[in-house]
Amino acid sequence: MSEPVIRFTRGVPPPETFPKERLAECACAVLEKYGDVVLQYGPSAGFTALRQWIAAESGVEESRTIIGQGSLHLQDMLARVLLEPGDVAYVEEPTYDRTVTLLRRSGARVVGFPLGAEGPDVEEMERRLKDGERPKLFYVIPDFQNPSGMVIPLETRRCIAELAREYDFWIIEDSPYRRLRYAGEDVPALFDLCPERTVRMSSFSKLISPGLRVGYAVLPAPLTKPLLKYAEDSYINPSYFNQAIVYEYIQRGYLDEALPFLKSLYAPRLQAALNALDREMDGLADWVRPQGGFFVSVVLRTAVDADSLLDAAAKAGLILSDGRGFYVERDGSRFIRLPFCALTVEEIELGIQRLAQVVRELTTETARR
Ligand SMILES: Cc1ncc(COP(=O)(O)O)c(C=O)c1O
Repeated sequence: MSEPVIRFTRGVPPPETFPKERLAECACAVLEKYGDVVLQYGPSAGFTALRQWIAAESGVEESRTIIGQGSLHLQDMLARVLLEPGDVAYVEEPTYDRTVTLLRRSGARVVGFPLGAEGPDVEEMERRLKDGERPKLFYVIPDFQNPSGMVIPLETRRCIAELAREYDFWIIEDSPYRRLRYAGEDVPALFDLCPERTVRMSSFSKLISPGLRVGYAVLPAPLTKPLLKYAEDSYINPSYFNQAIVYEYIQRGYLDEALPFLKSLYAPRLQAALNALDREMDGLADWVRPQGGFFVSVVLRTAVDADSLLDAAAKAGLILSDGRGFYVERDGSRFIRLPFCALTVEEIELGIQRLAQVVRELTTETARR
């Protein structure tokens, strides 16, 4: 096996993006300025100044914001507050695997809508709604989706907003990658199209550091009270200290400075992945061409045995996630997620070269049988 091993597995930011010195400076300032507040218990909704910043960004009152220990934590609480055993939860397919786990843990029957060039199949969604299915929520990652990299076009977002109004379900819009756009224009958020039925979720994990565990939600007014009560009963309050560090970081203009740096680091990595796919995988697979985020994904043209693919890749020095893990009802054996942000251009090129070779060998072998 040729070195080094290339890991196309976790969608994490690389350590060279962690602003250690600036965070140390902010931590000291926070203790000086807000020490008595951040070292004490407090209300479950989070550090007030950061809530105000989030509220101003979304144009809502502060009372509709909550900050949690990462956005996944808030998703879990929302699922526990909104879902009864047997309730239906809609998701895109493929989707973020951890969310499927937590929806199921809250007793939901999870129904997936396949992603195509226009985003999730809203015609199929409408058919099921017309047939009488009544989901509690639709969990959707409209911007640079994890795992596919897909952005949902405006027309499909409008349809989702209309369906949510007509059939009375919540849209959980999870958008941690929205601010990492390297080219092109933002598409209006579902929150902007249907604020009364949309929970907007985001996080500082991909913009500052996942280890800080600071994520947030902007809630439709009826959901705030039950969620805040659930939070208070579960952990009293989240870490104010980390939230205040994030606030101080923003106030000092460091987030505004970090964004161009992150984009200038990630954009060439994305381009390298797309160039390598064009060069190596032509005819073997189809892929989306994202303009931001952390992920490119490919769908193989020929069926392969997923376990054989993972094994053969590992033998070739390439560690892949199991594509089936991102699917709820359909078979994801042909789906491969390629997180590119934490790899260098050379690693991305080598990884995709190995992938093409493994796929070529496997598909020839399958055809021979
Ligand atoms: C779509 C999506 N939602 C949520 C999360 C978790 O984010 P956080 O670190 O804020 O819990 C991730 C992390 O990769 C993600 O990709």
